[in-house]
Amino acid sequence: MEQLKGRDFLSMADFSRQEVLAVLARAQSYKAGETAPPMGGKTLGLLFRKASTRTRVSFTTAMYQLGGNVIDLDPNVTQVSRGEPIEDTARVLDRYVDVLAIRTFDHSELSTFADLCHIPIINALTDREHPCQALADLLTIQENFDTLQGLTLTYLGDGNNVAHSLLLACAIVGLHIRVASPKGFEPLPEIVNLAQKLAHHSQVTVTNDPRAAVENCHILYTDVWASMGQEQEQNQRMPIFAPYQLNQELLSLADPDRIVLHCLPAHRGEEITAEVLEGEHSRVWDQAENRLHAQKALLSCLL
Ligand code: CP
Ligand code: NVA
Repeated sequence: MEQLKGRDFLSMADFSRQEVLAVLARAQSYKAGETAPPMGGKTLGLLFRKASTRTRVSFTTAMYQLGGNVIDLDPNVTQVSRGEPIEDTARVLDRYVDVLAIRTFDHSELSTFADLCHIPIINALTDREHPCQALADLLTIQENFDTLQGLTLTYLGDGNNVAHSLLLACAIVGLHIRVASPKGFEPLPEIVNLAQKLAHHSQVTVTNDPRAAVENCHILYTDVWASMGQEQEQNQRMPIFAPYQLNQELLSLADPDRIVLHCLPAHRGEEITAEVLEGEHSRVWDQAENRLHAQKALLSCLL
């Protein structure tokens, strides 16, 4: 996929349908055991301002499997935490590493890196989007249903970064998406509008009604009710989000061949019950594994 070489991946909307499908196809062949041509000493920098297990480890392993190197640019041990302007950091790192994966709060920090760096910049999660997660989610859906067309994904809960990337991802590939959130916690209107614009063959629905949203859907998806940086709102949000819990009752309204996804980490007994997370319809461990295959494909396409 020559046209992805050197590109940034800041938002799911940065890639066309054809480009997303090409990354997924490469991810599938890596998962099936195809070995990638060696990366020849290329270096990935990881600049993470928030905690991470899956993204950090899967990116690191992916780069090693591709024959590349990884440097952990922990803000606490670089000059970043001592206040060196991010513009200066970006222009310096650009000259040392070949690709940067950044996890931060404010999406505009990612845009600053993208504006100032010549190397590919990857969004490893911001408050606005989590596109690497959405790539792995699409891969998981594709391997379970053998298609991405004509299926409905229902996302229950907070209209957050994960919901935003899913809205765009579903619209781009042609999955119907319904997002059910409490009033005041819906996804950003600008993201919903963009998803609607991108969706040529599928429907984008945002509702406050969780029961209507899950009816006959094929994929049920949820995420934590308070994301990283919102921990102080956790208790206040619990009663507001309770009707959106992914439990056996809501699950039973979906299609008989339904699967359950969660980006993890999960809070059992809050956004999802332990029974559903560990139940026969859950694909969350495959989904977590697919982070590795999807990001390996992404890195190899961008580099
Ligand atoms: N799903 C996800 O991004 O997990 P981490 O926060 O552990 O990276
Ligand atoms: N919405 C969650 C996703 C974690 C992978 C957060 O931002 O904390």
